[in-house]
Amino acid sequence: MTGTMRIGDGIARVEGRSKVTGTVRYTGDIHPAGMAYAVGVQSTVASGRIRAMDTGAAERAPGVLSVISHLNPPRLFKPDPMPRGGSSTIVVPAVEVFDTDEVRFAGQWVAVVVADTPERANRAAALIRVTYEETRPSVDLRASLDRAYRPGRINGNREPDTSRGDVEAGLREAAVRVDRTYVTPTEHHHPMELSAATAVWEGEGAARTLTLYDMTQAVLVARGTLARTFGIPEDRVRVVCEHLGGGFGGKVGLRAHSVLAAVAADRVGRPVQFLVSREQLFTAIGHRPASVQRIRLGAAPDGRLTAIQHDAWLQTSVHEEWVEQSATISRMLYACANRGTTHKAVKLNLATPTIMRGPGETPGSFAVESAMDELAAELGMDPIALRLRNDAESDPETGLPWSSRPLRACLEAGAARFGWAQRPAPRAMRDGRWLVGMGVAVAVRAFNLSPATVRMRLLPGGQVELATAAHDIGTGTYTFMAQIAAAVLGVPLAQVRVSLGDTRLPPSPPAGGSTTAASVSNATHDACFKLSAAIFEAARRMPASPLASLPDDGIEIVEGVLQAKAEPSRRMTLAGLLPAGSAPIEAVGRYVPPGREARTHSSYGFGAQFCEVRVDPDYGIVRVSRFLGVFDAGRILNASTARSQCVGAIVGGIGMALLEETVTDRRSGRYVNANLADYLIPVNADVPDIDVMLLDTDDRHVNPLGVKGIGELPMVGVAAAIANAVHHATGARMRDLPIVPERVLDVIKRGA
Ligand code: MOS
Repeated sequence: MTGTMRIGDGIARVEGRSKVTGTVRYTGDIHPAGMAYAVGVQSTVASGRIRAMDTGAAERAPGVLSVISHLNPPRLFKPDPMPRGGSSTIVVPAVEVFDTDEVRFAGQWVAVVVADTPERANRAAALIRVTYEETRPSVDLRASLDRAYRPGRINGNREPDTSRGDVEAGLREAAVRVDRTYVTPTEHHHPMELSAATAVWEGEGAARTLTLYDMTQAVLVARGTLARTFGIPEDRVRVVCEHLGGGFGGKVGLRAHSVLAAVAADRVGRPVQFLVSREQLFTAIGHRPASVQRIRLGAAPDGRLTAIQHDAWLQTSVHEEWVEQSATISRMLYACANRGTTHKAVKLNLATPTIMRGPGETPGSFAVESAMDELAAELGMDPIALRLRNDAESDPETGLPWSSRPLRACLEAGAARFGWAQRPAPRAMRDGRWLVGMGVAVAVRAFNLSPATVRMRLLPGGQVELATAAHDIGTGTYTFMAQIAAAVLGVPLAQVRVSLGDTRLPPSPPAGGSTTAASVSNATHDACFKLSAAIFEAARRMPASPLASLPDDGIEIVEGVLQAKAEPSRRMTLAGLLPAGSAPIEAVGRYVPPGREARTHSSYGFGAQFCEVRVDPDYGIVRVSRFLGVFDAGRILNASTARSQCVGAIVGGIGMALLEETVTDRRSGRYVNANLADYLIPVNADVPDIDVMLLDTDDRHVNPLGVKGIGELPMVGVAAAIANAVHHATGARMRDLPIVPERVLDVIKRGA
């Protein structure tokens, strides 16, 4: 291990300059020759049937090449549905690709107009007249709980219900009990980059190929879905996505508009780009489902939990079943002999929900970590002491030892840094007219490890190239891969090129479930060792090699120069080893995690969120005045991009706690705030200077490099920490998100 660069250094993003100077090509920037534009028309009713559709005016409008709807539907191959409960939409639902005149939700695609310019496509789309036979939609989760049912599987292919010990007995024996219900609203991802998909068909007959430039977090998933949908082999489908302007889960899997882009390109015999507007995005890429969560806790006088029961009711759609795993956090968070979790789904006339940053744990932690705060208050116990009292020594669900669980370290380091010891009784801190409070919550997040493959080549001239079909959704994949190569191989960073996001590259996991960094870093590391061995071998075999007869451990590469460790004057450059015209030296690095059955340890990321709020008791305004997140993500690959993930996730948590809510009109089933003016997200003035501590835990069991995923963990617990701080400031317990002024005033007035 040589060179000046180290794994973990907070170097700037390698693609940062090209992003800020506008030379990066995002999907929407890709314009194949002859490209036409597709614009979708969405249903304006949420339930019923299309009675009539008049496309005549649109078809006659200038520049229009085709109008596609249920009147002239595409003939798509209908694959067998995949097992339920996967983390992404694997089969594109028929109702979203014109296979029916039925309408299941407002915003369902009902027609696509293809024209020679985007303006003409938009103009013609507005000319389509649709009349509906409307039936009464059901869109309100809380009003529909009587229709709740037990789903087959929940996200992550998990069991909906678990039970251990005897919860009722645990509650009976408890000295103190909490039984509360928490509500979270529908929320949307809002990546800055809108969705677009550009489809190109080439060749004829059995040699016909499809290339899709798509905004996707998962090129390989998209390729599989496209191949099955069009009934063609996977090797004749290519999906490309080199850069993403955010995704947060909404771009995992393949969406109907991407299929419709390929349908449109087929119809008009030209490449077609399907453009999705900001408003259309609200129903085109899914959302975080609304939840109702009941938590029952029982505890002995010393705080030891005697029972945990977490029951979640989640919104799903009428035409698909996708159910968030909101209660699974309570399966492993605390030690407790009597524990139960249940998930019930409610079918509503809304678009199908999907994963959104920290699916499951993010809303689940709001419920259970608020309830723990309520329990601490009932017990008269410090909230941190209560959590430490119930820290689990092994995974309560599987019985496996933790690969590492530095929860205590996170809580203790955070408490010291935040000044927790100075925290007085509730409603005892003031700053002028503001009531001041401090809250804490635990963060915990499952992350995934998946097989990853990285091809690494030394090119003539000394350049190093890394390639894999992984993604960088803004998280830093380009950077950590180049950084590992520079640090481990010993070449200058500027000599390393990384290629991502193309199904032609070696397979890697999707950018979902906090999988990429922990999986791809290990494959990159493996590739570096294999490539250096191949380079040393080639160097020894050079005619008149200065390194002849030296063993591998007698050679090193420093800043792109091969040299004998013991005698650095015996040297040659990588460019000298491979002059122009020679064949590249190649190595393939792999990471394969053990299968579920072979796992010897249980691995999660842990953290602790500390928040200080100021609440105006007359106006109900809540301001987050201080925030500290302490996280364990195993080994940190890049201190700067890792910190950026934490800050971004905490900002997302502030939005979830105080601002974000997609409001559905109960009569029409339409979203009333489907734009970024009315759907509130945090702006700079809502966000304090966020303090982040990364513990850089040494976890030898999780994978060779010891890396845990950190993309989602830092959002977990933020909303609970804020709600708990509001309680500490005011004595008012906020159980409905978001904590908007009218809700705060309402709760203060009721004295709850
Ligand atoms: Mo993430 S919600 O797994 O993109």
